[in-house]
Amino acid sequence: MNRRVYVTVRALVRTANTPLAKARLTRALRKAARPLKIEVGGIQKQDGWIVTNVNAVTKLYLDATTRWPVEDGSASHVFNDNVIEHLPLEAGRAMLAEAYRVLQPGGKIRTVTPDIRAHVDMYLNGGPAALVDPMFDGYTALGLKIEHPVDLIRIPIGEFGHHAGYIYDFETLTAELERAGFHNVTRCRVSESDDPAFSAWTSARTRAAHRSLSKRRVNANFFAISLSKFGRANRRVSGWHQDGCRTQIRKAVP
Ligand SMILES: C[S@@+](CC[C@H](N)C(=O)[O-])C[C@H]1O[C@@H](n2cnc3c(N)ncnc32)[C@H](O)[C@@H]1O
Repeated sequence: MNRRVYVTVRALVRTANTPLAKARLTRALRKAARPLKIEVGGIQKQDGWIVTNVNAVTKLYLDATTRWPVEDGSASHVFNDNVIEHLPLEAGRAMLAEAYRVLQPGGKIRTVTPDIRAHVDMYLNGGPAALVDPMFDGYTALGLKIEHPVDLIRIPIGEFGHHAGYIYDFETLTAELERAGFHNVTRCRVSESDDPAFSAWTSARTRAAHRSLSKRRVNANFFAISLSKFGRANRRVSGWHQDGCRTQIRKAVP
């Protein structure tokens, strides 16, 4: 389809769908058993989860950066996969603050996002060998042009719309989670979690990427975060990224 036609059709679909998707979310939240399990920026149905998004065709509309129509302390799990790096820093903060608010004591958040330090390390340590890193296969498959090792850094910052968002490393994401009130942040590898709700939660895309990466080498750039803080309820977070950088954060309160 011609790009202009596509953009126009998508805008029309968005206009028609968004109010319906907001109403569907209201109904879904009313009907769902507590505690809730909520995904923001999700695209794939998952049993037991309220999967939300802001895209034109989402079934359940929720802008994760504004107040969620969810009561305080009513969720046990919040999940976001490759979403936070699309949001400017303040918007990411708003999302984490809302996640914290809706989570119950002991609740958990899992966030998945590229680890820019892992990319920089690969670039600095890999030299020309970095050009044969399996990560590049994934990029090429997505239609990106890979010419130099510096693309290892350029792509996670400049492509996929990330230029409009904020990029994280372990320390930065931990600091932002702590700022939101989370504690016990745990850095983890892909799909790793001692919580079945998270370990079972693996998008088809991520599963495929992980399989493809695992075949060729052990991923050195997955990470998990552990954070702890006195005060409020336990909440945890974890996530992953198709290029092999994954973050898991846990929030736990005494
Ligand atoms: C790279 S996609 C990731 C989709 C999916 N989570 C996955 O891992 O395949 C980023 C998603 O974030 C969603 N998104 C962007 N801004 C958002 C916001 N403010 N609230 C909720 N979702 C948002 C986009 O619509 C998009 O579906």
